Amino acid sequence: MSAIRLRPVTESDLAMFHRFATEPGLIGLDWSGYRDPHAADRRFAQDGYLGPDSGRLMVEADPDGVAAGFVSYVAGKYSGPIGYWEIGIALLPQWRGRGLGWRAQAMLCDHLFAHSPVQRIQAGTHPENIAEQKSLEKAGFTLDGIVRACEFRAGRWHDGYLYSRLRTDPAPPL
Ligand SMILES: CC(C)(COP(=O)(O)OP(=O)(O)OC[C@H]1O[C@@H](n2cnc3c(N)ncnc32)[C@H](O)[C@@H]1OP(=O)(O)O)[C@@H](O)C(=O)NCCC(=O)NCCS
Repeated sequence: MSAIRLRPVTESDLAMFHRFATEPGLIGLDWSGYRDPHAADRRFAQDGYLGPDSGRLMVEADPDGVAAGFVSYVAGKYSGPIGYWEIGIALLPQWRGRGLGWRAQAMLCDHLFAHSPVQRIQAGTHPENIAEQKSLEKAGFTLDGIVRACEFRAGRWHDGYLYSRLRTDPAPPL
C-alpha cells in the first residue's frame, strides 16, 4: 500500500479536473455528460478550491508524490445552527483498488472534524458502486438508508445510498 497525503490543489492539478469534466466515464458512475472544463480554472483562481462552504483536496500517493485523484466536500444543513459536510472522491483508474480510497476519505473526515464543529459527515453513492460502499464502511461510515430516485444519470432516475460518519463514531486506524 502506498503512503498517501491530502494536500491543497495546485495549478498543475487542473489538467486532471479538465479530464474528469470531458472524458466520458473517467469519473465513474458520476459521469453526467460533458461539463465546462474551464469552470475548474475559474474556481481555482477564485479560492484555490478552499472555500468556506466547499472545496477539494488532492490525494497524493507515494513513492513519487503523484496526484492520484481528489476528495471534495460541500456544506449542507438540515436544521439548527450547525450543518454537515457531504464528501466525495474520484481517483484516476490506475490508482483504484489499492487501498487509497478508504484512507483518503477517512483522512478527509479527520481534517473536517478537526477544523469545523460538525457532528455529521455524509456521503452518497450508487447501489452498484460496491467499491465505494466498502470504502466508506472501511472509512468508518454507516449506511443511513436508501434515497429513492435522487439522481438522474444515464437516461433515467436512480436510487442512491446515503452513508454517514458521526464525530462520535470510532475512527478507523489509518
Ligand atoms: C470508489 C473509489 C473511491 C474506491 O477507492 P479504491 O481505492 O478503489 O478502494 P479501496 O482500495 O480503498 O478499497 C476499499 C474496499 O473496497 C474493495 N473494492 C475496491 N474496488 C472494488 C471493486 N471494484 N469491486 C468490489 N470491491 C472493491 C476493496 O477490496 C476494499 O475492501 P476490502 O478491504 O474488504 O478488501 C475508487 O474506486 C474511485 O475513485 N472510483 C471512481 C469514482 C467513484 O466511484 N467515486 C465515488 C462516487 S460515489
